Amino acid sequence: MGLLRKFLNQTRRPEGLLGRIMLNGMNFGHAFVADWAISLMQDMLNAHDVNQIAELGCGNGRDAGELLKIYKAAKLTAVDYSPLSVEKTIKNNQAAVNAGRMKVIHGNVSDLHSALEPQSFDLATAFETIYFWPGLTRCFEQVFNILKPNGHFMIVTESDGRDKISKWFQKRIDGMNTYTSSEIEAALNSAGFAYIKSTHHKSRPWLMILARR
Ligand SMILES: C[S@@+](CC[C@H](N)C(=O)[O-])C[C@H]1O[C@@H](n2cnc3c(N)ncnc32)[C@H](O)[C@@H]1O
Repeated sequence: MGLLRKFLNQTRRPEGLLGRIMLNGMNFGHAFVADWAISLMQDMLNAHDVNQIAELGCGNGRDAGELLKIYKAAKLTAVDYSPLSVEKTIKNNQAAVNAGRMKVIHGNVSDLHSALEPQSFDLATAFETIYFWPGLTRCFEQVFNILKPNGHFMIVTESDGRDKISKWFQKRIDGMNTYTSSEIEAALNSAGFAYIKSTHHKSRPWLMILARR
């Protein structure tokens, strides 16, 4: 595998030196889409209802930290199957971890029930990660299971499943899949989610989907 491909594949499961460089880059690279989606979500959810958050595929932990700034009374559990992402998330949120507001867990979203209590979260979030999840419906069922009744699941992607840039990445990153909002909605439906609302950015191929259990 050439160096470019090796580097791009660090988006899927960061490890080693290249993984560290990629995770540092994500801090900046994903901030715009994440902040856009978080501000939409703030308008849609009542902050008082958000006490326990699960941040899935947390990467460097930047968004986990942002969520705790917004939901000031909440506690957050961040999950990633890359040990390096777990390490980075702890390091980037050491104060919240020390204060007992954030826990960071090494785990796979396809097997959440072995790491997290069922029906224990008000909100689950997935920023720029579902491209790599092994089967959307199967993983969404796992998310459904950890949410309390009426709990919400927010999915954020920089791809609308049709844009050229993501297709370029998809060709070069093993196991990456981009999805249209209809495909994501169908998988959420099959997993049992009831209310589902997709929002497209007005000028970019960004997608924010909020589903309620
Ligand atoms: C492209 S990065 C995005 C990281 C972060 N959410 C962000 O927006 O910057 C994808 C992250 O999802 C994690 N990931 C991918 N598949 C996963 C799975 N099945 N279970 C847990 N984590 C996963 C990767 O290890 C990586 O840290």
